[in-house]
Amino acid sequence: MYTHLAQRDSGEQPVSLTTLKRMKAEREPIACLTAYDASFAKLVDTAGADLVLVGDSLGMVIQGYDTTVPVTVADIIYHCRAVARGIARSFLVADMPFMSYTSGDQALGNAVRMMQEGGAKMVKLEGGANQIDIVRFLTARDVPVCAHIGLKPQAVHKIGGFRVQGREHAAAIKMIEDAKSLEQAGADIVLLECIPSDLGRRITEALEVPVIGIGAGPDVDGQILVSYDALDITPGRKPRFVRNFMAGAASPLEAAQRFVAAVKSREYPTPEFCFA
Ligand code: KIV
Repeated sequence: MYTHLAQRDSGEQPVSLTTLKRMKAEREPIACLTAYDASFAKLVDTAGADLVLVGDSLGMVIQGYDTTVPVTVADIIYHCRAVARGIARSFLVADMPFMSYTSGDQALGNAVRMMQEGGAKMVKLEGGANQIDIVRFLTARDVPVCAHIGLKPQAVHKIGGFRVQGREHAAAIKMIEDAKSLEQAGADIVLLECIPSDLGRRITEALEVPVIGIGAGPDVDGQILVSYDALDITPGRKPRFVRNFMAGAASPLEAAQRFVAAVKSREYPTPEFCFA
């Protein structure tokens, strides 16, 4: 048994991909949050988040850009290192930024840096059928991959804004097929953003790997939110699927605990946080 030094004395086992797959099999909801620094990482880890994502959303909530497009590999590694120091139990995933996975070799080089320098245990990349070869290339070399489909924020300038995806019949069928192809190519997790709840359920039922949703309805295997949204730090208008977990909470830690509890009990998301 290889046990991480820092965890040898702690009673709780760190979450692994095996844990997440078991949770899907046993229908135990997976609670996920983003983090970008060590303090937030400790907070969401202590609150019981099973998975922590160093998302390229950091471009918007930390760096103040309008989109995630300007985020670089160096940015992700910098924040990932900080987050890795803050967590003891959660499974750490790092986002591959815009244009950092345009070929197998480029994707592998950047993914290796995120794992070796950043401490990530998995990388996430955006894309459907167009990324099958990249997913196959990475997973064949034992890089765990989360494939992000539905609304792909890195494609915002191509799709003309942050919009719900998969509402038309043909688009929904294509998304289901893409999800299955990504799983066959080796994707270990599929993440669905901003799609109708019914489509979220159909994709989740079609896949064996865990499916994490953000604005993808209640019938997925886990929920993720940008922590700055969930804790009501993000100023201005927030997406429909965001619930303010700070409301009524005495501290940010209690708010994160409320998020985890609401996901685990399937109290979140109720229909007002979902798309039809
Ligand atoms: O960058 C990010 O935080 C994400 C989540 C919205 C899932 O991709």
